[in-house]
Amino acid sequence: MLSRRCIWVNGPVIVGAGPSGLAVGAGLKNQGVPFIILERADCIASLWQKRTYDRLKLHLPKQYCQLPYFPFPDDFPEYPTKHQFIKYLESYAKHFDINPNFNETVQSAKYDETFGLWRVKTISTGGPIPVEVEYICRWLAVATGENAEKVVPEFEGLEDFGGHVTHACDYKSGKSYFGERVLVVGCGNSGMEVSLDLCNHNANPSMVVRSSVHVLPREVFGTSTFEFAVSLMKWLPLWLVDKILIILAYLILGNIEKYGLKRPCLGPLELKNTAGKTPVLDIGALQKIKSGKIKIVPGIKKFSRGKVELVNGQTLDIDSVILATGYRSNVPSWLKENELFSNEGVPKNPFPNGWKSKGGLYAVGFTRRGLSGASLDAISVALDIAKTWKDETKQKKKSVAARHRRCISHF
Ligand SMILES: Cc1cc2nc3c(=O)[nH]c(=O)nc-3n(C[C@H](O)[C@H](O)[C@H](O)COP(=O)(O)OP(=O)(O)OC[C@H]3O[C@@H](n4cnc5c(N)ncnc54)[C@H](O)[C@@H]3O)c2cc1C
Ligand SMILES: NC(=O)c1ccc[n+]([C@@H]2O[C@H](COP(=O)([O-])OP(=O)(O)OC[C@H]3O[C@@H](n4cnc5c(N)ncnc54)[C@H](OP(=O)(O)O)[C@@H]3O)[C@@H](O)[C@H]2O)c1
Repeated sequence: MLSRRCIWVNGPVIVGAGPSGLAVGAGLKNQGVPFIILERADCIASLWQKRTYDRLKLHLPKQYCQLPYFPFPDDFPEYPTKHQFIKYLESYAKHFDINPNFNETVQSAKYDETFGLWRVKTISTGGPIPVEVEYICRWLAVATGENAEKVVPEFEGLEDFGGHVTHACDYKSGKSYFGERVLVVGCGNSGMEVSLDLCNHNANPSMVVRSSVHVLPREVFGTSTFEFAVSLMKWLPLWLVDKILIILAYLILGNIEKYGLKRPCLGPLELKNTAGKTPVLDIGALQKIKSGKIKIVPGIKKFSRGKVELVNGQTLDIDSVILATGYRSNVPSWLKENELFSNEGVPKNPFPNGWKSKGGLYAVGFTRRGLSGASLDAISVALDIAKTWKDETKQKKKSVAARHRRCISHF
């Protein structure tokens, strides 16, 4: 049972009501441009509300995480908690009177060359029966995020393991793992923090590090490492800033290689720019690794009942597995175009040139620069759409007036 509707939108359609979609919406509101936001979840910022663990805090100082035109409240700490961030986003949406269409998953979006319009098809599941809706619009802003879907690698024998297996996006707290031997797969920021949280709840994590990782202190010289790196980059080339960061990390954290955390050949900033791999900002996991409370183990060969065999031949008895194996964009699954986005679902042109394409298509929040990159994209996108929207609206009004004058003169 599926009913169908078609809706003309006098303005852009924004896909995704995360921080990026909300920030574009705010910019458009400021310019008086009408728009629609389509969101698959039943709330704004669903990544933050539904797919993050309890102990999560923003890992960059607050001035780099606030969205345009509306600062964080003064009483927020330097690193707001996820609950504070969600509260901020809710007041952001309220302040700009942004009301997304919830429970609407975009299934496809295709540009109609003949009419110069986008046809965006969704399934809306908010009502008693699913409704297929087609939105027709002149502009399309893609704000579905770099972390839209969890990455779940295939492992031999995992189906025979028998214990609890979950992805980090469904992990909330270590409370339910009390006393368990837990294999945490992956050593990005999620893997490190989940391992730390498990330790704090008296579980016994072993963390899989199959390749290499940059671990940096969250702060150096009393300022955030991120802020320090940004200020150095104004004067020094990237490779030199990378060298300085690695030396400082060595001085502050010591030689982490002896604990099994091999550093990549490329520096942390270069690696982030070229491969999108975020360095880990340490907030306590390293101490637990040094004390042996978090064990570092190499890659996985295969699972069997209650066990994992590692590539070095060692076998561990484990109760549960947490896959902190990352996320990916879902854009290629629904957007039918190949100019702006790559097969991986991120813009082909690197920052700051990846936000705009032909035919009124825009990308917001795919810069690998977190919330600060999303804000910069959102400002550019909203201004650009507003300019063409205003020009075209003026043009339309003029031609309606001319038609009207012609009609009158015929009488
Ligand atoms: C655990 C974790 C912690 C993070 N911490 C930080 C941090 O401290 N600082 C930082 O700068 N960044 C952080 N990030 C990165 C973070 O993803 C972004 O900063 C931010 O959420 C990006 O916002 P966004 O709106 O681009 O994407 P998202 O927040 O992912 O929002 C995209 C929205 O699009 C919706 N959507 C997706 N597909 C469809 C579809 N087909 N139809 C309709 N709607 C759809 C989703 O439901 C979602 O609500 C973190 C990421 C994770 C996973
Ligand atoms: N605010 C915060 O504090 C916070 C917290 C969590 C996450 N985040 C952000 O969220 C984003 C995602 O982070 P994330 O840590 O979830 O993902 P991630 O950075 O992509 O890390 C994924 C990890 O999984 C490993 N992995 C993938 N497949 C594997 C396999 N088959 N076997 C073993 N290991 C495997 C990867 O190893 P390889 O490197 O070898 O591929 C990597 O260590 C990042 O931008 C991050 O900064 C922020």
